[in-house]
Amino acid sequence: MQSNLRNLHVAIIMDGNGRWATGRGLPRIAGHTAGAETLRRIVEAAPDNGIGVLTVYAFSSDNWKRPQVEVDALMELLACYLDGEAARCLANGVRMSIIGRRDRLPDSLCESIDDAERKTRHCNLLQLRLAIDYSARDAILHASELAAGAQITRERFEVLLGETRPVDILIRTGGEQRLSDFLLWECAYAELVFTNRMWPDFGPFDLQRAIQQCAHRERRFGGIPQAPAAVQDHWLR
Ligand code: FPP
Repeated sequence: MQSNLRNLHVAIIMDGNGRWATGRGLPRIAGHTAGAETLRRIVEAAPDNGIGVLTVYAFSSDNWKRPQVEVDALMELLACYLDGEAARCLANGVRMSIIGRRDRLPDSLCESIDDAERKTRHCNLLQLRLAIDYSARDAILHASELAAGAQITRERFEVLLGETRPVDILIRTGGEQRLSDFLLWECAYAELVFTNRMWPDFGPFDLQRAIQQCAHRERRFGGIPQAPAAVQDHWLR
């Protein structure tokens, strides 16, 4: 089903992989592998749901605290995902880019990132942003350093934050209800959707339902209630 909304920026905290796996007697990494499959399906479904930018939290700067074996497996899975998906993304008009620090990532993952970004740089149907070694607080600190104390606008600050734009809808799977240092600036007026569904079980229908649920919400951005037609206008660009 086509969405009646357009060019949305949707952000997703893909939580619940570990619990999905352990609940089935599988190692945690099996949950991450299943989670990577889910991401493939969600990327495919995104344009038909009115999404122009999809930012997903693949590895937070705090995830380095996990056992080394899980960190290593995640790094490998990310490289595999980028290597395997670059051609498909190119064919489907999906531009891949990475936000977050790169200086602590394995060289092989950095090569996969460079390759995927280079191959898909001209694609413009959907922008897929993977947050890897990402911390919103560090990104804000870094942008502040670049601003070097100058009086700048919010728009200019957003460029310093990495060519970002406000998030319209933030979805978190896995039952927790927190932001976990993800896109704190960009989510200032995001509509929040929390679902108990574990990420490997999340499907295109859940994505569609989350977006349609938000389409009925009135976005006031600090203003006052509007005529019903304006409720839709706030979602259309
Ligand atoms: C949170 O689940 C998920 C992560 C820390 C990693 C997200 C990774 C993926 C979805 C798969 C790999 C992604 C790509 C792009 C290939 P958790 O481990 O915290 O789950 P839990 O809360 O049940 O323990």
